[in-house]
Amino acid sequence: MLTKTVNEPEITKEEFEMIRDFIHEKSGIFFTENKMYLVKNRLLKRMEDLSIKTFRDYFYHIKYDTSMREFQQLMNLITTNETSFFRNEPQLLSFAEEVLPLIIEEKQKSGVPKKIKIWSAGCSTGEEPYTLAMIILDKFATMSGWQAEIIANDISEEVLQKARRGEYSGITLRNIDNRVLNKYFKKNGDTYQVKPEVKSLVKFSLINLSDQRMMSMYKNFDVIFCRNVMIYFSDEVKRQIVRSFYNALEPGGYFYIGHSESLHGISKAFKLVYFKNALVYHKEKLGAASSATARPGTSATASRPTAVRQTRLTTTSAAASARNAAEGARRALDLLNKIKPVTTRK
Ligand SMILES: C[S@@+](CC[C@H](N)C(=O)[O-])C[C@H]1O[C@@H](n2cnc3c(N)ncnc32)[C@H](O)[C@@H]1O
Repeated sequence: MLTKTVNEPEITKEEFEMIRDFIHEKSGIFFTENKMYLVKNRLLKRMEDLSIKTFRDYFYHIKYDTSMREFQQLMNLITTNETSFFRNEPQLLSFAEEVLPLIIEEKQKSGVPKKIKIWSAGCSTGEEPYTLAMIILDKFATMSGWQAEIIANDISEEVLQKARRGEYSGITLRNIDNRVLNKYFKKNGDTYQVKPEVKSLVKFSLINLSDQRMMSMYKNFDVIFCRNVMIYFSDEVKRQIVRSFYNALEPGGYFYIGHSESLHGISKAFKLVYFKNALVYHKEKLGAASSATARPGTSATASRPTAVRQTRLTTTSAAASARNAAEGARRALDLLNKIKPVTTRK
């Protein structure tokens, strides 16, 4: 049973609301009232370190810290950073086997530089962008002259430090098979170090996704991943951030959110595309017919449209989740072994 430490400060509803509203205003993260004790427990140790006795005093401490150093500490404490390599295989398969080849083909057709730009927004400790880098390296192995850049960022400096180190052990590696471990990691005792060729594709930086000025500097992405991040935001902040993502994507680009997340009631700007492995949001090119994304084998069923308007997402995402779960169970863990090289036109 949990025991309360003697003299441990209690949090009042008013104090919780002051801190909660401050966090929401500055980061977009919103805690409902049932998270009051979670917030309290995450802050207690920090208050003890600072010899601050009440939550009200801690609130004033962060509010009037113009250096924003304490805000950074707060972000390290209150963000949920759960992640792992090759998280959600169906989405990654759709990226590797469907989205990436489409983008490559489109670029080859239009004669633009052979460069792919990806954004992993809310990358936590780096597993997502490194996974994307490994998938891209496997793809590019049979192609000449292609380059990739992966921009990865997070609001927590603590997780970014770990991401930059690129050293991992334990449960986060559970979805990686031996071929990938041997090819893209260097074993060092019990830890696995991401190899330099993978690291060199990824640039890490600090970002606050709810900062519109910062967001407006991110542009020309072919694919954006913002998975399992916006679930912590209020709808108002989600709308603002999704608008920024839309603006940051190239026309024809693709947007991934977590497989159980939805843009229902948030944005109608994207088209939802049924790929064989997952549903993906698509920024259409101006004047593109809705059949632009309809390609053989990419629709969930032959009679289903490949692209549907966002308003139908609630039901489709439930169906997709069920489909994803069933497919996920059937799949072997070796994702990369299943990725076929892209056929390039000479
Ligand atoms: C659950 S992790 C998701 C990691 C990865 N995208 C995945 O799906 O495995 C959510 C991450 O979003 C970050 N985050 C939360 N609010 C943010 C904000 N306002 N700006 C940037 N990153 C934020 C957190 O620090 C956390 O590392």
